[in-house]
Amino acid sequence: MCLKQIGLLTVCGVVSVMLSITRVNGTSTVRDIKSTVESLFNKVTSEQVKQDSPFIPPLFWEKKRGTWESDVRFYFHGHEELFLMREAFRVYDDNMFATAWITSCLLESFRYGNAPKPLEDAVTAGVLAIEEYHDKNVNYSNSLMTFWPQKYNATYKAWSSYPYNLHHFFDLAASTNFSAFEQLLDRIGLQDIAEIMERLLRTEHGYLHAFQIPPDFDDTFVNLGLGSLLAEMKDEFPAAHAQWQSQNTNVTSVFDALKKYAYRPMSSDYNVNAIDCRTYFYLRYFLQKVPKDEDVMLVPTWIQNADEVKIWSSRGVDMPFNTNNVDVTVAANAVFGITTSILNGVIDSTVLDDTDIKQIYWNTSNLIASMIQTNFSSRHDLALLYYPSAIEFYWFVARTYGEITRKEKHGPLPHPILNDVKERLSEVLHDHMTTDLLNKAKNDSQGHLYYDDFVGDGDIDANNNTLVRGQDRLFTTGMAINALLSTWTVFDEQTKKLIWEKGTPTEVKDTVSKAAAFLQAYEFGLTYQPWNAFFSGSVKGHTTGVRYPMNRRTLIPGDKPQGYMTAVQGVIYEQEYQELIKKGVSGEPVPIDFHGYNDYPDYWPFWSSEPYTYVTNMLALAKYSNTYEE
Ligand SMILES: *[C@@H]1O[C@H](CO)[C@@H](O)[C@H](O)[C@H]1NC(C)=O
Ligand SMILES: *[C@@H]1O[C@H](CO)[C@@H](O)[C@H](O)[C@H]1NC(C)=O
Ligand SMILES: *[C@@H]1O[C@H](CO)[C@@H](O)[C@H](O)[C@H]1NC(C)=O
Ligand SMILES: *[C@@H]1O[C@H](CO)[C@@H](O)[C@H](O)[C@H]1NC(C)=O
Ligand SMILES: *[C@@H]1O[C@H](CO)[C@@H](O)[C@H](O)[C@H]1NC(C)=O
Ligand SMILES: *[C@@H]1O[C@H](CO)[C@@H](O)[C@H](O)[C@H]1NC(C)=O
Ligand SMILES: *[C@@H]1O[C@H](CO)[C@@H](O)[C@H](O)[C@H]1NC(C)=O
Ligand SMILES: *[C@@H]1O[C@H](CO)[C@@H](O)[C@H](O)[C@H]1NC(C)=O
Repeated sequence: MCLKQIGLLTVCGVVSVMLSITRVNGTSTVRDIKSTVESLFNKVTSEQVKQDSPFIPPLFWEKKRGTWESDVRFYFHGHEELFLMREAFRVYDDNMFATAWITSCLLESFRYGNAPKPLEDAVTAGVLAIEEYHDKNVNYSNSLMTFWPQKYNATYKAWSSYPYNLHHFFDLAASTNFSAFEQLLDRIGLQDIAEIMERLLRTEHGYLHAFQIPPDFDDTFVNLGLGSLLAEMKDEFPAAHAQWQSQNTNVTSVFDALKKYAYRPMSSDYNVNAIDCRTYFYLRYFLQKVPKDEDVMLVPTWIQNADEVKIWSSRGVDMPFNTNNVDVTVAANAVFGITTSILNGVIDSTVLDDTDIKQIYWNTSNLIASMIQTNFSSRHDLALLYYPSAIEFYWFVARTYGEITRKEKHGPLPHPILNDVKERLSEVLHDHMTTDLLNKAKNDSQGHLYYDDFVGDGDIDANNNTLVRGQDRLFTTGMAINALLSTWTVFDEQTKKLIWEKGTPTEVKDTVSKAAAFLQAYEFGLTYQPWNAFFSGSVKGHTTGVRYPMNRRTLIPGDKPQGYMTAVQGVIYEQEYQELIKKGVSGEPVPIDFHGYNDYPDYWPFWSSEPYTYVTNMLALAKYSNTYEE
């Protein structure tokens, strides 16, 4: 009886999904997709590092058990040699970010997409691997996370962020005599490359300093998101959940920090009323609309303020440009982390009775919505300061909406503000985001749909024709599917299926299914590389330099300089701001427009993680194959 029922369910499922696929010219069937999901699962789980292993120059990077690979690359683009250099340059990185996300996606694929169940040991190893990323510069147990592990510096009597493989790389570079190599490059006509090599090595000091970053709200909330997922799945992964809990015994520390460091432009407190001049350029439209006597509080990136820079910058902990910023992708991860930790009982919902926390949650959600509505003020480069991919951002936002709608199907929401946030996001996701995604889809001759961001689409051939290599095509297409499915489907806890929302436009279903067919066709082919630019440094060419109007250049306003800032304090209204734009900054014009990362030749570091592409593609395909009509 039971078996028969299960059999029937399966048959019904197959028929319904096949119906939605038959519109595609390609021949993917549910069985094909399920087998791709299984291959992706095997690929991703096999790539998790099984044992700690040391750096053996120049071939083997230092690796820690439980982590997944992500690499620092440089976005060289243009003629063939630059393309080859982009291919060749790669430093294995040690951030917690990739591992936390990949672990989450494995769990979500299993939970929402009926993908294979990851081994509990693998999940626990992922959790254990990020244990050392809790801030060690405070003397209490905390969940304030750093992007890189911290290493104790006996001279400074402080812990500073220490990406060990990047240090291995620069140590190796410092001990190598490159001039012979550069002369060779010069001789064979590769002056560009020789010059780039020289500049890269000359900036070594700059990079080493840039590594010394404080903890941040991005990693902090991604960790909280992972813990919330484990709390929800604790019956299936009891050991992994217990491990996460044992590493996070003071989750309140996150909310304390949020209150302390939130950006408050209307405040008179100099520690919180100033922001990176690059942030202010795009954020001003939002801030100028706030009534003059009304407070606004937003999640910033760094867990550090001006007073702390004074103490800590000479001890090796210091935010870039000594100035905090607002990145709406970080904001999206924070809103998701707050939402899911409350809905899964990792933090009590009464935390939202705190007026500051409630305001940060609501104001930040409004910022996100307004950014989606206004095309990021046409400045993706500034609004998404660390995350070049707008489609990845869409998915991060849609996750919050998906989480709230799923929970509210099974009982009342624990706080009314959750409903307000859901309504606000619902509007912009169903309308602006969906329209943008439908418009950005491109078709190929086989009737598939795909999405490109920018990686690999800015090279030129010998005749100066632009080459489109689509190096982030797999990643971006998968993210588009994830964003649309998190917006237009709801997971049903009883049947374990995703159900299209009533009234989902046919065009949305079509787009998802043709994009899934694209992934199915190309996932393991040689046509497209599984690259992404899931993360980047804040400076990505001339539009992202700190060359925007600023009115505060010192840590303490009005005081004699004790360290610089590149900030806007308070609110500058439009007329005055336009005057400042006209004046320029340090004799240079202010970059008004952004035309994409392939528009100028500058090169800059970005993070690419192949297992992150594979696991997010797996999530997209698994969820797609588990989506049904009502
Ligand atoms: C922790 O650090 C704070 C501030 O640096 C200090 O006031 C406090 O005494 C320390 N507490 C303990 C238990 O060391
Ligand atoms: C502390 O950091 C400084 C600056 O990065 C470095 O020169 C020094 O070697 C470090 N000291 C120790 C003991 O690690
Ligand atoms: C590096 O190599 C160049 C060219 O071979 C040589 O002239 C120079 O002396 C070398 N520098 C060092 C520090 O060894
Ligand atoms: C939790 O974190 C707060 C700071 O956010 C700290 O004051 C408190 O002592 C910590 N509690 C424990 C038990 O470590
Ligand atoms: C910020 O939050 C406060 C308190 O919830 C609210 O009154 C105000 O309208 C919000 N402003 C924005 C721009 O979200
Ligand atoms: C959105 O902004 C980007 C620049 O960031 C611009 O290239 C694009 O044309 C804008 N799209 C719309 C629909 O306005
Ligand atoms: C995309 O679709 C349009 C309309 O169906 C068609 O004319 C065009 O040839 C397709 N593009 C490719 C690359 O096949
Ligand atoms: C390509 O562009 C470069 C720089 O603008 C120019 O020097 C070169 O002659 C061009 N090559 C061709 C084949 O048009």
